Amino acid sequence: FSRPKIALVGGGNIGGVLSQLAALKELGDVVMFDIVEDLPQGKQLDIVEASRVDGFDVMLTGSNDYACLEGADIVIVTAGLPRKPGMSRDDLLTTNANIIKVVAENIGKYCPEAHVIVISNPLDAMVTLLQEVSGLPAERVYGQAGVLDSSRFATFIAWELGVSVKDVNAMVLGGHGDTMVPLVRYANVNGVPVMEQLVKKYGSEAKAQEVMTAMVERTKAAGGEVVALLKKGSAFYSPASSAIQMAEAVLRDQKRVLAVCAKLSGQYGVNGYYVGVPVVLGKGGVERIIEVDLNAEEQKMFDVSVNSVKGLVEDLKRLSFLK
Ligand code: APR
Repeated sequence: FSRPKIALVGGGNIGGVLSQLAALKELGDVVMFDIVEDLPQGKQLDIVEASRVDGFDVMLTGSNDYACLEGADIVIVTAGLPRKPGMSRDDLLTTNANIIKVVAENIGKYCPEAHVIVISNPLDAMVTLLQEVSGLPAERVYGQAGVLDSSRFATFIAWELGVSVKDVNAMVLGGHGDTMVPLVRYANVNGVPVMEQLVKKYGSEAKAQEVMTAMVERTKAAGGEVVALLKKGSAFYSPASSAIQMAEAVLRDQKRVLAVCAKLSGQYGVNGYYVGVPVVLGKGGVERIIEVDLNAEEQKMFDVSVNSVKGLVEDLKRLSFLK
């Protein structure tokens, strides 16, 4: 029995946390690739030297050669530039498309049997590009955005209601941008609708709605809130945790139901585009897409979000990154 091989493309802020979390959970051996000479080697050495303290029996290595991807079971891609204050994720399109194109070619060359989780932004466009250029099947190429957006939404709800975040279920669908769609109607605390609890807390529908709207808006802008505070770079602990939850679901065949950026083939009235939706994630990758019943208002917001993803994909076509 061999241990799973996890390859990280990008050894920056997110890459480092990904490696440490994968090691702590003993998900498999981790190889980290980066174009910066010695950086992935140094980071991996630093993390693995705590193996006695943390008690993990996995090997961590670094490389500047794409051949290190050979035999990978799962690749997590964070190569690319993060946002600076004032930038939107979409501002990264051309710069990161140039990087992701090369990453995709090498994944297609060295590990066509692997699963790929993309984190680089603008997420929906980068997953689309990576899948097309690598030639890997859509069920094995997906993006991390919804797990984090949902976790952010759940965190704000837990704080507002004064309950454990472990008991909050909240999901965010759509693209990973300003038009994402937090599903208010389905948000619950151990089955009890959040809106119902807000109305009881504040004694009025209007006030409950106002508080919910503030949480929704904070969720949509949460990435930017962190960027503005950090000043250099964007969020990295929470995106890494979120992608590791996805990798674990795949490597341990957990069939987790998670919000994932997956390629739709008719679901939600969308065909051929990557968008955030709930899926069953297991050893087959995106094994099933779950269709949530949306009311007219939710569907309208979802459509707006899908249109913004389509706009980015059109830009990639115009710039000749996509056919
Ligand atoms: N090939 C491989 N790696 C590259 C390339 C390339 N062509 N260009 C840059 N990188 C590496 C950088 O050397 C750096 O180590 O990608 C890494 C990115 O790390 P950070 O700058 O620390 O960014 P991080 O916070 O990890 O975010 C990475 O994920 O959430 C998104 O918006 C974020 O697009 C960004 C990505």
